[in-house]
Amino acid sequence: MSFTDGLLVLLGKDVSLDPQGLNARMHFFGSVPVDDGTPFPPPTPGLNEQSHPLNKAARHPCVVALVSVNGGVGRSTLAAALSSGLQRHGESVVAVDLDPQNALRLHFGVSPCAPGIGLTSLRHGHWENIQQPGFFGSRVLPFGETDMQQQEDLQRWLKNEPDWLAQHLSTMGLSARHTVIIDTPAGHNVYFHQALSVADVVLVVAQPDAASLGTLDQLNGLLAPHLERERPPHVHFLINQLDEGNAFSLDMVEAFKQRLGAKEPLEVHRDTSISEALAFGTDPLDSQALGLAADDINDLCRLLIARKKCL
Ligand SMILES: Nc1ncnc2c1ncn2[C@@H]1O[C@H](COP(=O)(O)OP(=O)(O)OP(=O)(O)O)[C@@H](O)[C@H]1O
Ligand SMILES: [Mg+2]
Repeated sequence: MSFTDGLLVLLGKDVSLDPQGLNARMHFFGSVPVDDGTPFPPPTPGLNEQSHPLNKAARHPCVVALVSVNGGVGRSTLAAALSSGLQRHGESVVAVDLDPQNALRLHFGVSPCAPGIGLTSLRHGHWENIQQPGFFGSRVLPFGETDMQQQEDLQRWLKNEPDWLAQHLSTMGLSARHTVIIDTPAGHNVYFHQALSVADVVLVVAQPDAASLGTLDQLNGLLAPHLERERPPHVHFLINQLDEGNAFSLDMVEAFKQRLGAKEPLEVHRDTSISEALAFGTDPLDSQALGLAADDINDLCRLLIARKKCL
C-alpha cells in the first residue's frame, strides 16, 4: 500500500462522513451560543432598503470568501496578498475581516484601535465610514476589538439574521468593478455561513498536511447547503505553504489530488518573505525577495478575474 493510499485509509470517508463522528469533533471548534431570548440590536437604519444587496440580476461586486476548518493555514495572509494582487490587476478591492480575532488588520499594518465592523454593527453604524487604507489603494474593514459579551451578542444576532453581511455590504456603494475579499474564522461558526451566503467564489485553504486533509469531509458538509442555492459559489481548494523541497509536502499534495479527483487544487508556495511581510505589516507583493509565491498569487488573481467575468 502506497504512502498516499495509507493516508487515505487513515483519513477515509467512512470515519469523516459518520454524522456521529462529525458531531463528536465539533467541540474542537467551539459552539454558537444558544438564543437565551436577549433582544438583538434592531435593524440598522438604511440597511433594509435593498432586500438583497448583492442582487445577482444587478451589477454587483465579486465576493471571494477564504475558509478552512482548521486554524493557522494562511487565510488572513492570502486575504491580504490577494487584496494587493487584485488591486494591482486593476480591481477595486475591499478586504473584510469577519474574524473576531481581529488579526487581518495586522497584515495591513492597521492600528489595533481602528474601529471595526463588530462594534460598528452593534451600534447600528455604517461600514463605509470605517474603511482603512489597505495595500496599493485597496481598502480594509477590520473586525475591531470586541469583548466576550459583544462577541456573544453578535453571534446570536447573526444566527438570526442570515442577511446581516449582505445588507451591510449593500450600503457601501460597491459595483461590478469591486472585489470583496472575506477573511473568516476557522471552523463552523456564524461568520462562515454569513460569508458563504454572499460568496461567488470560495477558496478552501489547506496546508499540505494530514490535519488539513482530514477536514475535507467536514468542509464538504459545511459547504453543502450553500451549494444548493440558485447560483452556487465556485469552490476551489487551495494548498498553501507548499514546500517543493520537502517530500512529505509533495506526498500530501498527491493525497489531496486523489481525494479531490477532478477538482485539482490550487497551490501557493511557502515563502519566508510572506511571513516577514506579516511581521512588518507591509505589502507582501512589494518584497523584492518574493519568489514562487508571487507567481502563485498572480495566477490566483488572474483566475479570480476570469471567474468574475463569468458571473
Ligand atoms: N505562503 C506562505 N509562506 C510562508 N508563510 C506563510 C504563508 N502563508 C501563511 N504563512 C504564515 O503562516 C502563519 C499563519 O498564517 P495566517 O495567520 O494567515 O493563518 P490563518 O489561517 O488566518 O490563521 P487563523 O486561524 O489564526 O486565523 C503566519 O505566520 C503566516 O505568515
Ligand atoms: Mg486568520
